[in-house]
Amino acid sequence: MQFPENFLWGTATAAHQVEGGNASSDLWLMENAPASFFAEPSGDACDHYHLYPQDLALLKGLGFGAYRFSVEWARIEPEEGFFSRASLDHYRRMIAASRALGIVPIVTLHHFTAPLWFTRDGGWTEPKAVDRFARYCEVAARALGDLMLFACTINEANIPMMITAQREADNRAPWEPPKRFKEIARSCGGETRRWAPYLICDGRAATPHLIAAHRKGYEALKSAGLACPIGITLALLDMQAEEGGEAMRDLAEQLIEGQFLESVRGDDFVGVQTYTRMRFGPQGPLPPPAAAERTQMGYEFYPQALEATVRKAARISGCPVLVTENGIGTADDTHRIAYARRALEGVHAAIADGIDIRGYVHWSLLDNYEWLEGYRPKFGLVAVDRATQARRPKPSAYWLGAVAQNNTLE
Ligand code: BGC
Repeated sequence: MQFPENFLWGTATAAHQVEGGNASSDLWLMENAPASFFAEPSGDACDHYHLYPQDLALLKGLGFGAYRFSVEWARIEPEEGFFSRASLDHYRRMIAASRALGIVPIVTLHHFTAPLWFTRDGGWTEPKAVDRFARYCEVAARALGDLMLFACTINEANIPMMITAQREADNRAPWEPPKRFKEIARSCGGETRRWAPYLICDGRAATPHLIAAHRKGYEALKSAGLACPIGITLALLDMQAEEGGEAMRDLAEQLIEGQFLESVRGDDFVGVQTYTRMRFGPQGPLPPPAAAERTQMGYEFYPQALEATVRKAARISGCPVLVTENGIGTADDTHRIAYARRALEGVHAAIADGIDIRGYVHWSLLDNYEWLEGYRPKFGLVAVDRATQARRPKPSAYWLGAVAQNNTLE
């Protein structure tokens, strides 16, 4: 199966999950708070902040032509209105190093973490978030924009809504902060009432601001002179209805995905990030079938989902599609290969039907910090020794790298 000329083949990471020492961010405080509900703190992560030259070389050597990573807002604007020249220079060196190797950098501006000052003051649930984010985009574009080749504004802008909808479906409606949340917010300082970390905030309050922030950020990037394609990325599920579940499915699909896909019509591309499917019955979401294989995240192993979501994204948004994440948390690397192979067959079939898909970016380059779950789930093509930081490519890294190099799935 041959892929189109210029099809991008890449892997992805996100700053907080790999860099280490992201101490001005909201999550760093929460991970290290006495009452933390994170499995463990991110700590040094993969020390990618210092080891990125060797990681880029590894990526290149494996055969990939693109690398999606994020620049960290908490490092660039650690205090409101103070923009760190040193941090911007760091990311400039990183993007330049990627370009020098011939790797297309796909740069994300916001990947879940935010500066502590932002989250302490209501984060995305506050209307002020829109201007705060746009100002950060403008500064980043002026410092880094001339080197960028793809920019993603907000990673999975629909995730707060998705998480909130799941809570509501579990009858924890409308919004109830997780246990120990208040205690953590108190120990981190600030008014607990206003604390709103991205992954743990009221999605109904945050969504209008996230949609507006993407629009304003997009304009700010363009007017600061960014010439490359700009898009948002969205977490999309293959939402399937069992007998009688159509109405529930349609309702959830519009709330969690449809309104976001409609809001990005006319953008340069839309980033699709898919891991599994979700089935609906007449009462709402259904658990995976009893016999289904589950990944380390508890999701159903269902790589076919990607074909459905790239088709859905293209149909509703009308934008070219870039698969900005797809992957599996598994300790068995043969399952990673099976997963990626099946997902890519779906991408190929969609392309054959005329869907404009620009590339496939696998999550993740490295085994990294999986948020609340800590380092247990293994999403990496490359293993990382937690004591020595030594990298060891898994068979899947060589396999996918060869697919990338040949632009062909055999
Ligand atoms: C996120 C990543 C995360 C991955 C695997 C995506 O939702 O963008 O940060 O590690 O899924 O769970």
